[in-house]
Amino acid sequence: MPALVIIGAQWGDEGKGKVTDFLAREADFVVRFQGGDNAGHTVVTGGNEYKLFLLPSGVFWPDVTSVLGNGMVIDPAVLLDEMDRLRAAGHSTERIRVSHAAHVVLPYHRAVEEAEEDRLGEGKIGTTRRGIGPAYLDKYARIGIRIGDLLEPDVLSAKIKANVAFKNVLLEKVYGREGFSAGQLIDEYLGYGDRLRPYVTDTSLLLDGALNDGKNVLFEGAQGTMLEIDYGTYPYVTSSYTTAGGACVGSGVGPTRIGSVIGVIKAFTSRVGNGPFPTELHDETGQYIRRKGKEYGTRTGRPRRMGWLDTVSLRTAARINGFSWAALTKLDTLAGLPKVRICTAYRFSSHVVSAAPTATTDLAQCEAVYEEFDGWDEAALKRARTYDALPASVRAYVEAVEEATGVEMRLIGTGQDRTEVVVKGEIGFGRG
Ligand code: GDP
Ligand code: IMO
Ligand code: MG
Repeated sequence: MPALVIIGAQWGDEGKGKVTDFLAREADFVVRFQGGDNAGHTVVTGGNEYKLFLLPSGVFWPDVTSVLGNGMVIDPAVLLDEMDRLRAAGHSTERIRVSHAAHVVLPYHRAVEEAEEDRLGEGKIGTTRRGIGPAYLDKYARIGIRIGDLLEPDVLSAKIKANVAFKNVLLEKVYGREGFSAGQLIDEYLGYGDRLRPYVTDTSLLLDGALNDGKNVLFEGAQGTMLEIDYGTYPYVTSSYTTAGGACVGSGVGPTRIGSVIGVIKAFTSRVGNGPFPTELHDETGQYIRRKGKEYGTRTGRPRRMGWLDTVSLRTAARINGFSWAALTKLDTLAGLPKVRICTAYRFSSHVVSAAPTATTDLAQCEAVYEEFDGWDEAALKRARTYDALPASVRAYVEAVEEATGVEMRLIGTGQDRTEVVVKGEIGFGRG
């Protein structure tokens, strides 16, 4: 079946952008289906580093159609800016399609989020402050503005007026902040609508036609499984379905059309924002990994929290997403450490458990139980072009992750560039 879904298995920033770009060479369509510009996906090719916030990471392949699905929340100013930058870098934007049913992020969403995070103080979620949560809140409250509304002046005008009336009460009376002018927002957003008009369509119909024609469709998840609204470390999560099921509801494609689900797993763990993190490192080793892996938020520039690989949470991710296989990224970042560790279980209220407790407050009490492995040399890792040529200690690490998760690691990341990948096993779309 020519549809693959790519999902982050941890707390985001696993390297989904690189893996999507790599697999997109054989794709006809690459689809984002949830989240918004809270995501930051990096693609490195020929010394150029591109950071994508809303556009899918297949956009650098000229024959790929890039789809922004209905499950997304889209800040049109960010999208148009990204399209401008893409054109400036010599790439076409003609093959971009945006769902009429995706929701629009407006400045009052960001303002409300800013005010609420500040009010929470120490107890804040540590969001990206891009207005994502408040935009989804409006969607589910059924007062949201959709991309299609930007093309209808009367509809947009009525909706913005109604929303601004309420948001201004909230901002001014509850939070003591400045409100917005409905008139200005209407003008600004009608302008975005005009510029986006050629790209807006029913993307569910588009993808259905593509799948009927046997085209290869790649779905690119944003954020990660542990940031999912239901199965993540609630409430320290994002506001969307980041897991494999989200690909269907967020794009209007039925589950029977999906062939494989691919997990993207970073060889260690990172987290931006607050919330429990059982394998977190507060020492020199954590700093070494952050420095070597350039582990700073792609979106916000915040230093990422660092930790060892956690196979307890990866087993949850494998279960919820039903991974067919996985990509293990950034093995080169761990190079140079004499010993590396994998968390295989948690110690929780004096028991050793192999599955995470369901309550987030209990997860915060868990201590990681580790297995230790020999480290590896970076030059030897980078030289390898095949799995068998990788240093024995790398293979032992990879196989331990496979054993602990029950998932085969068929792509091994050995560097930032799109070419720095070792392939182990079948990774194609399964077509001819
Ligand atoms: P995403 O949000 O999952 O797409 O990941 P980000 O792009 O936010 O962060 C991952 C970072 O790791 C980016 O800077 C990537 O270029 C980089 N990266 C991905 N895979 C590898 C790898 O195998 N080795 C190295 N050194 N960097 C990688
Ligand atoms: P990509 O796609 C890492 C985190 C935020 C915060 C929580 C909620 O690049 O992997 P939000 O702004 O979504 O309401 O914030 O989720 N977060 C991410 N962390 N990578 C991301 O995206 C993230 N998107 C959101 O830091 O903890
Ligand atoms: Mg990222």
